[in-house]
Amino acid sequence: MKAVAIKGVRQFEIKDIPEPKSDGKKVIIEVSKTGICGSDIHYWVNGEPKGLVMGHEFAGVVVDPGDRLDLVKGDRVTALPISPCGECEACRNGDVQFCPKTWNEAVGLSIDNPGGLTSKIAIRSDMVIKVPDNVTDEEVAMVEPLAVGLHAAHLGRIAVGDDVLVIGAGIIGLASAEFAKKEGASYVAITETNKARGEKAVDLGVADEYYDATDKDLVEKLMAKTNGGFDVVIECVGNGAAVNSAISMVKPGGIVVLVGVATDAVPTYTVMAVMKELVVQGAIAYTYNEFKSCIDLISRKQVDVLKFVDDIVPLERVQEAYERLTSGTDAAVKILVDPSK
Ligand SMILES: NC(=O)c1ccc[n+]([C@@H]2O[C@H](COP(=O)([O-])OP(=O)(O)OC[C@H]3O[C@@H](n4cnc5c(N)ncnc54)[C@H](O)[C@@H]3O)[C@@H](O)[C@H]2O)c1
Ligand SMILES: [Zn+2]
Ligand SMILES: [Zn+2]
Repeated sequence: MKAVAIKGVRQFEIKDIPEPKSDGKKVIIEVSKTGICGSDIHYWVNGEPKGLVMGHEFAGVVVDPGDRLDLVKGDRVTALPISPCGECEACRNGDVQFCPKTWNEAVGLSIDNPGGLTSKIAIRSDMVIKVPDNVTDEEVAMVEPLAVGLHAAHLGRIAVGDDVLVIGAGIIGLASAEFAKKEGASYVAITETNKARGEKAVDLGVADEYYDATDKDLVEKLMAKTNGGFDVVIECVGNGAAVNSAISMVKPGGIVVLVGVATDAVPTYTVMAVMKELVVQGAIAYTYNEFKSCIDLISRKQVDVLKFVDDIVPLERVQEAYERLTSGTDAAVKILVDPSK
């Protein structure tokens, strides 16, 4: 079957890979939609690991239910793409994101476990979740990034009336901003280097105001706006500039949530964090319950995720979609892939 795999720096190839076969345990699904994620973009930019078939945000239809007796062929499902051991203390507490094995065999994020940039994939059966009929494939493919935003907002411990700054208006920033409002923030600002994306965040109603991240007077403007800083800053970029602006713009005693994945060391003046007695809170993925909550929120029409979907492309146009998402000027934030097209 046809699959899109990493070939080199910023380069994909379409190649033929074997269809997954059931081992009696794993669930085999036919992929209907797969999302392109900002984390996938890091792998594509670095061109490593070669041969990786990405796509950890997916919707599909069961072809072989494996050892899941409650599933039948044709059921519509999604799954947490991770591989927690199920036995360690973190797993027993429901904090699957902390399990040391969680990323080892993650679907679409590890070389032996192809993700949704192909037509059929094999998934750990205990990670598969059946989705309600009223949730579309496009919505299902948005659950995973939505859950990242929900987790970030939870960890920001946002209180009613808080001023919240979200840095970066990719899908993770937009989802975090959406939940910041839901948790009671009375003002949500977003900063971006890409004007089209920043303005879109306001047009979509997830942020109250957009500020140009490259404006040299940015800190001054936002300090004046918030009377001395934000209660919570959620950093959704993953570079030094973003991390340092988070630390600059949070108020004393505030919380900085680091969601962005910085692959290089980030130099920072820690004295600022010391003087402000900051809480610097990392956020990785989501809990099992948060993932399920996102399906419920969509099903109950509490969150509209379709507003974030810009385009749906076939496998042949994945390379072009990645180029568009990294142009720095295009307003597109989330492009889904339909491997059946
Ligand atoms: N912690 C987690 O569990 C988790 C999960 C998913 C993604 N991520 C990470 O979160 C980050 C965001 O993901 P995404 O899918 O939204 O990515 P994305 O690339 O679509 O969005 C990042 C945005 O940041 C903007 N940006 C760049 N520099 C900036 C700056 N200095 N100030 C403000 N904006 C700036 C870019 O223009 C872009 O729109 C990535 O680093 C990704 O790897 C983390
Ligand atoms: Zn993702
Ligand atoms: Zn574990």
